[in-house]
Amino acid sequence: MIKLVDVHKSYTKDKETIKGVSFEVKKGEIFGLLGPNGAGKTTLMQMIATLMKPTSGQVIIDGLTADKDILEIHKRIGFLTNEIKLDPMSTPNNLFNFFAELYDIPENELKDRRDESFARFGISPFADKRINELSTGMKQKISIAISLIHNPPIIIFDEPTNGLDILTSKQVTDYLKELKEQGHAILLSTHIFSVAEELCDDIAILVDGKIVAQGSVEELVRQSGTETFEKAFFKIYVENHKE
Ligand SMILES: Nc1ncnc2c1ncn2[C@@H]1O[C@H](COP(=O)(O)OP(=O)(O)O)[C@@H](O)[C@H]1O
Ligand SMILES: [Mg+2]
Repeated sequence: MIKLVDVHKSYTKDKETIKGVSFEVKKGEIFGLLGPNGAGKTTLMQMIATLMKPTSGQVIIDGLTADKDILEIHKRIGFLTNEIKLDPMSTPNNLFNFFAELYDIPENELKDRRDESFARFGISPFADKRINELSTGMKQKISIAISLIHNPPIIIFDEPTNGLDILTSKQVTDYLKELKEQGHAILLSTHIFSVAEELCDDIAILVDGKIVAQGSVEELVRQSGTETFEKAFFKIYVENHKE
């Protein structure tokens, strides 16, 4: 569903931020990009979500590429990132209606979808409150509900549990597991190895713009010759971080 082939990205002439990344995310799979701050996770995800072009290499979404089929790709992906902020003066209801219209959600489906997604995340009591009066966790849950408003088969979530308390974080991870069971293809980035360990079928460890190891939790532990995923992650990181 998501395929990257030798993707490179330079923001400036003298520095390459993404140094040749390739991977594939399949239907019914949670694929994790795990790496410290600055590794290039957000850069990669913005390119996959078609917000930015790679300097070279290919990003293929469900067989489509952004140069020909960008609108079709937008219909098939749900993208969540901390870089995009909700309008502070709007309300959850207004935002939901706005995005529903943008994605052509039929009027008769809109109410059911909104009720279901607001109920799941406990948004309903705040549905007509201003965004700027809501907590960080509530804003994140609203962002998630909106990013999935069109029920996209491909889900791209950049650090979805960042800054959330443990209960909200669990609501989000449980939801991701459910979406995986329903057959969505999920690409997740995180700098928290416990999130990757719990959720991901396949994990790519990203260090300084390169994938330095990839596999399931068990495979990464075995490859690194350590006993736990935490130790595996630090060993792999220390061996590969040079700058
Ligand atoms: N718009 C930009 N212009 C120049 N450099 C950028 C830009 N966005 C990110 N970078 C740099 O690219 C590197 C990777 O950043 P990012 O993709 O945000 O990493 P991550 O999401 O893993 O923390 C960092 O060194 C960051 O400073
Ligand atoms: Mg980031």
